Amino acid sequence: MASIPKGERDSFGSSIGVIAATAGSAVGLGNIWRFPYVAGENGGGAFLLIYLGFIMAIGFPVMLTEFTIGRRAQKNALGSFKKLAPGKPWYLIGLMGIVAAFLILAFYSTIAGWTLEYLFQAISDGFNGKSAVELKDSFESFQATPFRPVLWQLIFMFLTGYIVFSGVKNGIEKYTKVLMPILLLLIIIISIRSLSLEGAREGLNFLFKPDFSKITWGVVLDALGQAAFSLSIGMGTLITYGSYIKKTNNLSRTAFQVTAIDTFIAILAGIMIFPAVFAFGIDPAEGFGLVFIVLPNIFEQMVGGYYFAILFFILLAIAALTSTVSVLEVVVAYFSEELNLSRKKATIIGSVAISIVGIFATLSFGPLGKLQLLDKTIFAWFDYLSANILLPLGAIFIVLFVGWYLGKKNVIDELSNGGTLKLKMIGVFMFIIKFLAPIAITAVFIYGLGLI
Ligand code: PFF
Repeated sequence: MASIPKGERDSFGSSIGVIAATAGSAVGLGNIWRFPYVAGENGGGAFLLIYLGFIMAIGFPVMLTEFTIGRRAQKNALGSFKKLAPGKPWYLIGLMGIVAAFLILAFYSTIAGWTLEYLFQAISDGFNGKSAVELKDSFESFQATPFRPVLWQLIFMFLTGYIVFSGVKNGIEKYTKVLMPILLLLIIIISIRSLSLEGAREGLNFLFKPDFSKITWGVVLDALGQAAFSLSIGMGTLITYGSYIKKTNNLSRTAFQVTAIDTFIAILAGIMIFPAVFAFGIDPAEGFGLVFIVLPNIFEQMVGGYYFAILFFILLAIAALTSTVSVLEVVVAYFSEELNLSRKKATIIGSVAISIVGIFATLSFGPLGKLQLLDKTIFAWFDYLSANILLPLGAIFIVLFVGWYLGKKNVIDELSNGGTLKLKMIGVFMFIIKFLAPIAITAVFIYGLGLI
């Protein structure tokens, strides 16, 4: 395959490729593992409604803002700020993004590794004959052993590294273009099976019927945090991907499509999980273990469950992989452009460094579990620092940068492709990124620190 000539930047080859890669980043464990259990704990339908509001009013504009920065600068997450604001400290936002990418990938790859173990279990019929209690025990004892979770994590990091190593067009775009349609097909098939279960209606009621008595200030802010994490905003992933998007691409349309796909998949994940949860009389607020304890229990009791278990864990692994690739790319683009390493070297150094840090996150469910600071394990700290501190802080500064520093003229120029596209609602967009988004995200940030 042709390599990229020296001095030329790699880029996405087609608009379908842009959608596949970016939706691949957005659709991940956040949609299929996290969204259903967070919605389950926070009252279902009412949470969903608020979540949807945030996706449209905050998530979509912030995504578009990141695309604008990346495509305008044609650089990595840190280099973009240096180029657009030379000599100013705005590049620190990029630096924060690189650190966040490191931490997110370190703990995300722990759970991504678990999906491979569960795929392996599903294939070898490992759930068969186990009671709910036994499934819970085996999940907990698997987590606690040092060897297997680390091995799966390293395999997952290797797969991620392999795709990134191959480049933007010949790696990320090529694989996400194949994997994303498979993901979509799988989630639709499993959802149909779930809907066909007796008692499915109750699950749908739970997901779609809003019960506002459950809504507190905390739940509102949880919904905003989930929306940001799910859309991959706030840490430079979309700046990096935006820098590979061609100047002729309609960025507003792309951001809208990606937002719609991500939301559609999160809702489908709910449709896939809750009818099954209710059909088998399980508590929807099961939490963290919903996917790894409750679902194997359901598959085991369901007709055709052996095959659906395999399909489900393939789906989960694909969702995770197309997201981990986007996080690693943030680090690799930075290493190669700012530290002048070749893509291959940057990928190897980045993957190895993140894997080493990631092992500590994985071991914190086992041998390093006692290593705690303020009641949090290493895994919990990585999760907390990235999702609750670096990510919201990044999102606030990103919108402030574009709203107040880059300014309306540059935004219009970039979003209209130099005046060739007609822009609608630019005033609303500018209002959101200058005022509404920074204020709303600041609220999440404060909540994340536990100040409210
Ligand atoms: N959006 C991904 C998910 O929902 O699983 C997670 C993620 C990917 C977060 C990339 C942040 C990021 F930059």
